[in-house]
Amino acid sequence: MIVRDARPTDAAAIARIHVETWGTAYRGIVPDAFLASLSVEARAARWSRILTEPEGHELVRVAEDEAGDLVGFASAGPERTGELGYEGELYALYVRAEHQRRGVGRALTLSVVEGLAEAGLRSMLLWVLAENPARGFYEAIGGTPVATREIEIEGAVLDEIAYGWEDTTELATHLRGADQ
Ligand SMILES: CC(C)(COP(=O)(O)OP(=O)(O)OC[C@H]1O[C@@H](n2cnc3c(N)ncnc32)[C@H](O)[C@@H]1OP(=O)(O)O)[C@@H](O)C(=O)NCCC(=O)NCCS
Repeated sequence: MIVRDARPTDAAAIARIHVETWGTAYRGIVPDAFLASLSVEARAARWSRILTEPEGHELVRVAEDEAGDLVGFASAGPERTGELGYEGELYALYVRAEHQRRGVGRALTLSVVEGLAEAGLRSMLLWVLAENPARGFYEAIGGTPVATREIEIEGAVLDEIAYGWEDTTELATHLRGADQ
């Protein structure tokens, strides 16, 4: 498995992973109507715009298996609220269901943490639905709960938790160690 920068030609594969993984990971957590409304074509168009005309320090990394197929992706950039005291934010992290628990999430997180540091962003947070088992991943890599908020999806009010890392140098060392 390798992790590399995403290219505009990856947009459709990223969109497929995005929509498929939402479908498997969020069923029973977010309303079915929302999951049914997700369209690979619409997502692909959005990813194509993001990858063709990247804004600011936003970065997108993909994990590719030996056959050259994408098995996961991550995107990150400046923290979006500007109110929580963190410089960087992990916007999205998705690994295809059949490739989870093999270190792909760790490798993608390390890659975006390195990319954020290169852009001078040395602390990081992310938002995750409170009911999402992915919280176990963020806790395993040393995230601390730092904030909560409510979001509304199709009329359902859901809790989100932010996990933060004040010093991503430590996080990178931890993730590199786990790689070996
Ligand atoms: C969360 C996610 C990105 C983790 O990626 P991954 O490749 O499966 O994670 P890794 O194999 O690198 O896991 C590293 C460690 O994190 C912990 N971990 C990972 N997933 C976990 C889970 N669901 N529950 C508890 N702990 C978990 C484990 O300690 C794991 O080490 P181990 O397998 O040796 O026990 C992946 O499960 C995913 O895409 N989930 C669905 C989409 C999603 O919810 N994304 C997050 C949106 S905020």
